[in-house]
Amino acid sequence: MTPSQPLALGLAALVALAACKPNEMPQAEEGRRLFVESCALCHGPSGRGDGPASDGLTPPPADLTRIAARNGGVFPRAKVLSTLDGYTRTDLDGPGMPEFGDLLRGDLVPLDVGDGILTPTPRRLVALMQYLEGIQR
Ligand code: HEC
Repeated sequence: MTPSQPLALGLAALVALAACKPNEMPQAEEGRRLFVESCALCHGPSGRGDGPASDGLTPPPADLTRIAARNGGVFPRAKVLSTLDGYTRTDLDGPGMPEFGDLLRGDLVPLDVGDGILTPTPRRLVALMQYLEGIQR
């Protein structure tokens, strides 16, 4: 390293710090707001699949309060995340659950989906997932 390199690295770190907002985990209210905006139309205000646009939809919108119950009592974080961002889905052209790639934009926050590893994950996606996790019954 030349003498100026540590300084340059320090500056780069400072610039990077200034450019990003603190990676705070989203609060429940943020997820609820996103849900009302983007999901309640089909899944209903309480998430039970009875939104105003659910009539006649085939397949019907899923009851989102029973995701864990349908999965042996465990909330499948990774699966829910990929349902939302459309990443692993092959059925995007047909009827059913639309993709919300928009949720991928914005800040990243560290999230453990159950494998013990903190993965930087789009904040709005995390907010929604946490909201869904909180309405399980
Ligand atoms: C246009 C109607 C519509 C909208 C809007 C919609 N969904 Fe869905 N969603 C569906 C339908 C229909 C299904 C069930 C069929 C399927 O899986 O394709 C579904 C399935 C799901 C599933 C899978 C449930 C399971 O047990 O596997 C999740 C999770 C989900 N939606 C979450 C959301 C969230 C969160 C939003 C808002 C960001 C949202 N949906 C917006 C129609 C919709």
